[in-house]
Amino acid sequence: MPDMNFSEDYEYAKLLDADDEMGIFRGQYVIADSQELYMDGNSLGRMPRRSLECLQRIVEKEWGHQLIRSWGQGWYDAPQRVGEKIAGLIGAAPGQVIVCDSTSVNLYKLVMAALALRPDRMKIVSDTMNFPSDLYILQGCITSAGACHKLHLVPSLDGVTLDLAELFGAIDEDTALVTLSHVAYKSGFLYDAASITAWAEQKGALVLWDLSHSVGAVPIELDRWGAHMAVGCTYKYLNGGPGAPAFLYVNKGLQTKTLSPVWGWFGERAPFYFEPIYQPAEGVQRFMSGTPPILSLLVMEQGVDLALEAGIERVRKKSLGLTNYFISLFDIRLHPLGFTLGTPRDPAIRGSHVSLRHPSGYQVTRALIEEMRVIPDFREPDNIRFGLSAMYTTYSEVWDTVERIYQVINEERFLNYPATRLSIT
Ligand SMILES: Cc1ncc(COP(=O)(O)O)c(C=O)c1O
Repeated sequence: MPDMNFSEDYEYAKLLDADDEMGIFRGQYVIADSQELYMDGNSLGRMPRRSLECLQRIVEKEWGHQLIRSWGQGWYDAPQRVGEKIAGLIGAAPGQVIVCDSTSVNLYKLVMAALALRPDRMKIVSDTMNFPSDLYILQGCITSAGACHKLHLVPSLDGVTLDLAELFGAIDEDTALVTLSHVAYKSGFLYDAASITAWAEQKGALVLWDLSHSVGAVPIELDRWGAHMAVGCTYKYLNGGPGAPAFLYVNKGLQTKTLSPVWGWFGERAPFYFEPIYQPAEGVQRFMSGTPPILSLLVMEQGVDLALEAGIERVRKKSLGLTNYFISLFDIRLHPLGFTLGTPRDPAIRGSHVSLRHPSGYQVTRALIEEMRVIPDFREPDNIRFGLSAMYTTYSEVWDTVERIYQVINEERFLNYPATRLSIT
């Protein structure tokens, strides 16, 4: 951890790396180019080495040789089995987490289920910092539910944090559901989930957390918070692979009272009896829809195993070490060049990425990617996001990243790029 002896010299970064108890995990991931600084693990995590072996084994043996028999030899149970592993990362007792579909689809299913549980309440509360897909899903749910609900988005005044008093003021006796991202995708703001959940519960509203930017990065205690529902993504800090299936959590106490709006056969009580009339499965499994994507699910499990091996306490400690160090270097090297911090300075309310804001942020991002071998990403209007993964990012990489950003400005390299956006950034 950066401390009183902090120095801006490269040697200090090397010392931090030498002292890093999480350093043993970096070798578990494919680092195809050691000169490239990958700072986008909060968007698509690196590939675990064991994922390649796993995929080869599943494709050749389980699919190639065993064919349909593999459903009875681990495939059918995989959504629950991997769900229970993820439960260990999000503070959920057994029987409440299942792997299925994408985060967006899971959000749709749980929002519809939540609205049905509070039929007399017409307000959904979220905020302007929530991920756009979540806001689109909410708008779609309102239409699907008969267009009677109102979406109340609490504004963030600085685009970085949310005023809890303002949020609390918006949650009232007409609120059916409060749904927020536990860590904001742009600023990395970490919400006080325990207090928000308790406040909503007091008002009789349900709470649904999107854990996409917090799972595998910060401690989560769904059961202790009294959360009702949650969804989350596995291809960021869990390193599950592009499009890996997501997970959902429904608190035990709610499961028999709720129904998925998608009545697929994998959510049925006995799918292989092929009865024509749907009867929901007993537990959280009722929120599954159709056949799970087995290849990506089993590959994703490898990333989850690594996170469990590391343990969330160690992960959080290293993650804060990295983000604190990045911010300390930013203060000295980048703030004088016109960058501002788009992430909370207080570590208690910060996830695992750092956003730097700059009026030419898009051009700076392009120059970093095209010329400097640094891979961050850009989020409108001026945020350059740097995702720091406790599993494989080093302090030396953070140091190098700051120096390369410095060069992009100092040597005016960003002026080589137009401000016109490419379609994917
Ligand atoms: C916070 C958050 N929620 C939801 C999503 C959407 O996930 P998916 O595309 O897997 O549905 C993302 C994707 O990045 C996200 O960051």
